[in-house]
Amino acid sequence: MAESMKGLKRTHRCGELSSANLGETVTVMGWVQKSRNKGGIIFVDLRDRAGILQVIFEESECGAENFAKAEKLRSEFVAAIVGKVVKREGAVNENLATGEIEVRATEIRILAEAQTPPFPIEADSKTKEELRLKYRYLDLRRPDIQKNLILRSKIATTIRAFLSQEGFLEIETPILNKSTPEGARDYLVPSRVHPGTFYALPQSPQIFKQLLMCSGYDRYFQIAKCFRDEDLRADRQPEFTQVDLEMSFVDVDDVIDATERMVATVCKEAIGLDVQLPIMRMTWDEAMNRYGSDKPDTRFGMELTDVSAVVKGCGFSVFTGALENGGSVRGINVKGEAEMPRKKIDALVEFAKGYGAKGLAYLCVLPDGTYKSSFSKFMTEEELKALVEAMQGEAGDLLLFAADRNKTVFAVLGALRQEVARQLGLIDNNKFNFLWVTEFPQFEWSDEEERFVAMHHPFTMPMEEDLDKMESDPGSVRAKAYDIVLNGVELGGGSVRIFQSDVQETMFRALGFTDEKAHEQFGFLLDAFQYGVPPHAGLAIGLDRFVMLLVKADNIREVIAFPKVKDASCLMSEAPGKVDPAQLKELFLATIPVTENKED
Ligand code: AMO
Ligand code: AMP
Repeated sequence: MAESMKGLKRTHRCGELSSANLGETVTVMGWVQKSRNKGGIIFVDLRDRAGILQVIFEESECGAENFAKAEKLRSEFVAAIVGKVVKREGAVNENLATGEIEVRATEIRILAEAQTPPFPIEADSKTKEELRLKYRYLDLRRPDIQKNLILRSKIATTIRAFLSQEGFLEIETPILNKSTPEGARDYLVPSRVHPGTFYALPQSPQIFKQLLMCSGYDRYFQIAKCFRDEDLRADRQPEFTQVDLEMSFVDVDDVIDATERMVATVCKEAIGLDVQLPIMRMTWDEAMNRYGSDKPDTRFGMELTDVSAVVKGCGFSVFTGALENGGSVRGINVKGEAEMPRKKIDALVEFAKGYGAKGLAYLCVLPDGTYKSSFSKFMTEEELKALVEAMQGEAGDLLLFAADRNKTVFAVLGALRQEVARQLGLIDNNKFNFLWVTEFPQFEWSDEEERFVAMHHPFTMPMEEDLDKMESDPGSVRAKAYDIVLNGVELGGGSVRIFQSDVQETMFRALGFTDEKAHEQFGFLLDAFQYGVPPHAGLAIGLDRFVMLLVKADNIREVIAFPKVKDASCLMSEAPGKVDPAQLKELFLATIPVTENKED
């Protein structure tokens, strides 16, 4: 039966005790990691969020009653123990912070008994993730997850302190909203009071933070929950947290400066990492041409080479065909891998096809200087030589080529470069490479919608030099938009906003919005702009991603207390769930069978 802790008060966390406490009588409370009865002497490892402490019971010290209680201890029982801190008698345990000491118990109370947990509560768990997530409250007891969440809390505190110091005000914005345009699907909440209408959960606080600028709160920030109904990946959750900020009377450099100093402060405080400022900047164009990606991982080389000019007019129709269709031929040089087995190369071809490639052409420069290639029979010796030279190919190199429209070539080689580096172990896990990618295109062609869509969002300011091309040549307009990238992951992004109504109108026209539609969706923002709007700009960092990268987790779920899985459900609470028909009725809602919906 559970005992009361009446009369006892915790003096220390288990893991906080050290040689500095020698001789003190302490009261600790926590969970039993394990308990060993060596006959006449009982060793108990007591755990709390600070760590593990060894406690020793001997009947001569604690009395028969306490000793009998200690004999009953099982894993995960909750106990309060009073005892004296002494030097450890056995060998010092280097693995424990408390490894030099132990507590000799004089009293114990069993505060709660526990069933045997479905998996061991320990670091580096081998337990399947589904089971861990079903019993997340137990999984969260594990020291590695606790370490992540403790660091996450520290990072949030550091951010708040830094931004407050810089004159940013923390202001909350609504969760029950109208739709915000960030390009994902909205989560909707039906209104009971206004039957047939819906709130949308915020995809970001974008519109509200711009309104706050109109209202004169010239530096705003929020650690904001955002909701996006999109396909989940290792670095994506349906609800996630942004460090969201906005500033008035500023341009690109001001936002970049404030953000990178914040990021550097966090890295230093959280993991002792010195980030070299200013962080390197690269235009979007350069990032695509060199890395095939707008979030390049710069921890390794293997950059792309454009060989279009070299293969122009050659006999290989895959290459010339791509060029005739306005595309390009580009390659990567995988150093020293000319003898990669055919099976592995074929697997890379399949990988490339997953990114839309029709194929992947390869050429091995064998150690004797001859070539083995999937396309050499279509090219003359001179043409091949020129190609290898353009790729800076040397004996022993494997050259991989994609020929297609640029978008596909970049997608394929960008992903392939990362995959090959991963397979060959070329990525230094101890590096933290930050990068700003700037001058994003304003618009992006959507094959699905057969029109230009905003690459960032419709409030992003085009670069002054490109303003006159918004309608005549939208594809070439660059935006005052920037992303901060860490080790090949998009950490955050933002932009300078449009604040002139004529530019905003041109923008909406270019995006195919009618006046009515623009006003229906963002009328209140456009109206606010009529009453004195300051030039403003901002950005949002994905907090979950930032923590994930700093703790080197390979999944965002490792840094979120109660995450969702791939199908956006929670394995513990089993959300989303069915609701009572009465609740639906109250909301004037009816559901339609899944099959009907699918036929739509
Ligand atoms: P953006 O859409 O680029 O910009 O989002 C900013 C950052 O939020 C993180 N993020 C996510 N993290 C986890 N799961 C998701 N589903 C997810 N989606 C986004 C990323 C991303 O870089 N309002 C603008 C910012 C601005 O212009 O000020 C915005 O939301 O790390
Ligand atoms: P094929 O003549 O179709 O057998 O193609 C010859 C070689 O070119 C094969 O190695 C294909 O994988 C490769 N290939 C086909 N399409 C492309 C493409 N779009 N880009 C690069 N290589 C390709």
